[in-house]
Amino acid sequence: MKVFGAEIVSNEEVAPGLRVMWLRTPQLGQVTPGQFFMARCGPGIEPLLRRPLSIHRIGNMPAAGSNTGDLGLLYDVYGSETSALLDKEEGDELDVIGPLGRGFSVHKDSKSLLLIASGLGISPMVALADVEVKRGRSVVLLAGAPTSSSVYPPDLLPAEIEVQIATEDGSQGRHGSVIDLVPEFWEWADEVFCSGPMDVYRGVEQIARGYGYRKRVQALADVGMACGIGACYGCTVWTRQGAKLACKDGRCFNLRDLLLS
Ligand code: FES
Repeated sequence: MKVFGAEIVSNEEVAPGLRVMWLRTPQLGQVTPGQFFMARCGPGIEPLLRRPLSIHRIGNMPAAGSNTGDLGLLYDVYGSETSALLDKEEGDELDVIGPLGRGFSVHKDSKSLLLIASGLGISPMVALADVEVKRGRSVVLLAGAPTSSSVYPPDLLPAEIEVQIATEDGSQGRHGSVIDLVPEFWEWADEVFCSGPMDVYRGVEQIARGYGYRKRVQALADVGMACGIGACYGCTVWTRQGAKLACKDGRCFNLRDLLLS
């Protein structure tokens, strides 16, 4: 974990209310999809708390395109923290702590990966897809969003992956929840990864249980994080092994271990 100022390369909207900030971070080192950074969003003491932002893109991946930096962070413009990021421009500095937490791990024998994302949960899944197609694995990404305007642009995804979309209002892809897309790909997948709110995890867990938990399913704990470094105990999640901190013990957990009340 490091604290450093990263130079902003770009800060652009990719969909309404959804932006990617590219950073130049020569001191980045080794990062794993599913890890995150805590970013100081404003120029001064306000907003007081840093905001956790998942690793969304890693610069040396072909799908990241040209004119990018080393690290891409996706954020939605919501609340005072990320609204403050809107003012950041090329050449400005973003104060970050990271990389933090435990990211996804992919078994060496897994060839077919099913990625399930809902809402801003798409952010780490794009990083995972980037990395794993580069390693030669087959990836299917199931992405859920409220409406077509909030769907992550498919043309920004690696061309090698299959993408299926579900929208709650039926304006793009399947009408309904991303969970409705899962059964079609379940048996094909060697491993499953999900990122989104609890109702998505409940839906995936129900499917996994129906198949007798025969494959590993990893999920990123979707909880607020105030410090990101294990100091505030504000990110407690309950697991079969007891209370864990999302920021230090996760955010990646085996879905079967999470108590999804
Ligand atoms: S966010 Fe403070 S302990 Fe995890």
